[in-house]
Amino acid sequence: MKDMQPPQLDQTRVRQSFRRGLDSYHRAAAVQEDIARRLAELLQAQGAPRRFRTAMEFGCGTGHLTRQLLQRFGIGSLLLNDLVPEAAGVLQALGDAAPEQARFEAGPVETLPLPDELDLIASASTVQWIPDLSALAARLSVRLRPGGWLALSGFGRSQFRELAALGSAAAAPSYLDAGEWPSVLPQGLEILAIEQRPAVLEFDTALGLLKHLRRTGVNGHAQQSWSRRRLQEFEAAYRQRFGCGGKLPLTYDPVLLVARRAA
Ligand SMILES: C[S@@+](CC[C@H](N)C(=O)[O-])C[C@H]1O[C@@H](n2cnc3c(N)ncnc32)[C@H](O)[C@@H]1O
Repeated sequence: MKDMQPPQLDQTRVRQSFRRGLDSYHRAAAVQEDIARRLAELLQAQGAPRRFRTAMEFGCGTGHLTRQLLQRFGIGSLLLNDLVPEAAGVLQALGDAAPEQARFEAGPVETLPLPDELDLIASASTVQWIPDLSALAARLSVRLRPGGWLALSGFGRSQFRELAALGSAAAAPSYLDAGEWPSVLPQGLEILAIEQRPAVLEFDTALGLLKHLRRTGVNGHAQQSWSRRRLQEFEAAYRQRFGCGGKLPLTYDPVLLVARRAA
């Protein structure tokens, strides 16, 4: 895993980037909303029970996945987590849809105190920000009760391939293709379903594309500042290399999986 990681992940920068984008995220993150819907559908399609006694969702953000789960499954006790403390607002936003026993804990999921015997651990569009995914998967696995369910989505190696090709530092540390997940999950977790389906968004201008990244907070690892000249150069290079019918494509590469702990 080490070879895919930048020297260090500046988690403060990631937190700031998502905190800044939180207000605009919910509406701007159409791809992540689709992913959350698909992940909840996949969990249902694999035969997950209609009700989970205890569940935990990390990287809940503004609650795209939370809503999709609550629409399909009963949940007795729900622990929500995000790196950004302001994401606690999701509980108010859910209103009556929130389970009676729902709470929010802020902080990195890597060190979050976790309940035992969870029936479901879920997370959408977050694991790409975890530098050591094997360690997290092992940590989560022991908190699942035997027969418990894991529903995750991250992004594959073609995520934002255009930006990577143009030398952007915006990449998250852990992009993994579907074929790499089996070696990341610990023994005793069986993958029931895994899928990887790229989706391409199109923008009229580089500024529009960069605004999209800013609104969704997904460029949390980028360090560049954008002068007018740098923006012009970036747009010219992007058009020359990837421009198509006057548009600038941006590739998302979602990977979704449902796994189950051996009973
Ligand atoms: C792209 S958003 C996804 C939000 C939501 N799950 C969705 O599907 O729309 C990623 C979220 O992961 C959170 N995050 C990033 N690193 C994290 C970590 N180490 N622990 C917990 N949350 C983290 C960010 O703050 C952000 O809210």
